[in-house]
Amino acid sequence: MTVGVEVHATGTIPVASAAQPPRFELWHISKGFETPGGFRPVLDGIDLKATSGSFISIIGPSGCGKSTLFNVMAGLEPADAGRVYVDGQEAGGKREHFGYMPQKDLLFPWRTILDNTTIGLEVQGKPRKEARVAAAKLFEPFGLAGFEHARPFELSGGMRQRAALLRTVVQEREILLLDEPFGALDSLTRLEMQTWLAEVWVKYRWTVVMVTHDVREAVYLSDQVVVLSARPTKVRLVKDITLPRPREEALMATPEFAAIERELLEVLHEESRHALQTQRVTV
Ligand SMILES: Nc1ncnc2c1ncn2[C@@H]1O[C@H](COP(=O)(O)OP(=O)(O)OP(=O)(O)O)[C@@H](O)[C@H]1O
Ligand SMILES: [Mg+2]
Repeated sequence: MTVGVEVHATGTIPVASAAQPPRFELWHISKGFETPGGFRPVLDGIDLKATSGSFISIIGPSGCGKSTLFNVMAGLEPADAGRVYVDGQEAGGKREHFGYMPQKDLLFPWRTILDNTTIGLEVQGKPRKEARVAAAKLFEPFGLAGFEHARPFELSGGMRQRAALLRTVVQEREILLLDEPFGALDSLTRLEMQTWLAEVWVKYRWTVVMVTHDVREAVYLSDQVVVLSARPTKVRLVKDITLPRPREEALMATPEFAAIERELLEVLHEESRHALQTQRVTV
């Protein structure tokens, strides 16, 4: 599979290659916030692109702007500068390209799981009946068969996450943005979910961008891992993960896997230390 995430060497506006236009491309995205203490620069010229069907993970120090980047991509917040392209066309603030599973993705406790998973489609204006038929088809592959009419409190943490992911996926957007989808899970459930996600991704071949704090998870699932720097945030490193697929859990115990993990951890720790020092200076 050809996968393309790369940092632009030049400052020219990208032109999609006829051979394989990127599914999406971020060009020089910058974003900051006015705070009581003054302007806080967060994203400082982020360049990124990915081809169709690739799985990209983004790691970076806490507070460096990963969720902000997703909010910009999903059109929830405007960028101060920069452009978002989808299939070579400028997407501007349009939301319809991205299916977004936010960091805190709550299921409504008063709705059944089926009715929770149809919310995105209903917001898009799909009739409820059609939305239910579309969502119901995914309950089996998402390991939720039989729980259509349960309420969220009846589900385990992993099942809730799968329901939240189902709600995102059923909207059939071109690109999925998953912000720490397994962040709240215990390590065993998390491992099960990673294996499950690897399997369903192979089946559906979504283009995925996932934020995670777990370097091992990033390496295991991804074609590429992007490390962001401390604020003001730039792309610090883009690492191709060429480990063979399908990937078994045992791969994580191999020296090749460990070497990639170590390299990424070193860069991440360096940036996290830098972020802590900067915070101390600016707080
Ligand atoms: N609406 C806002 N107003 C002011 N500052 C904001 C706003 N949203 C985010 N920020 C600031 O922007 C920075 C990046 O926040 P963001 O939530 O994107 O970080 P993150 O990388 O997702 O962090 P984490 O890993 O902890 O989830 C932080 O310093 C945060 O305080
Ligand atoms: Mg975040």
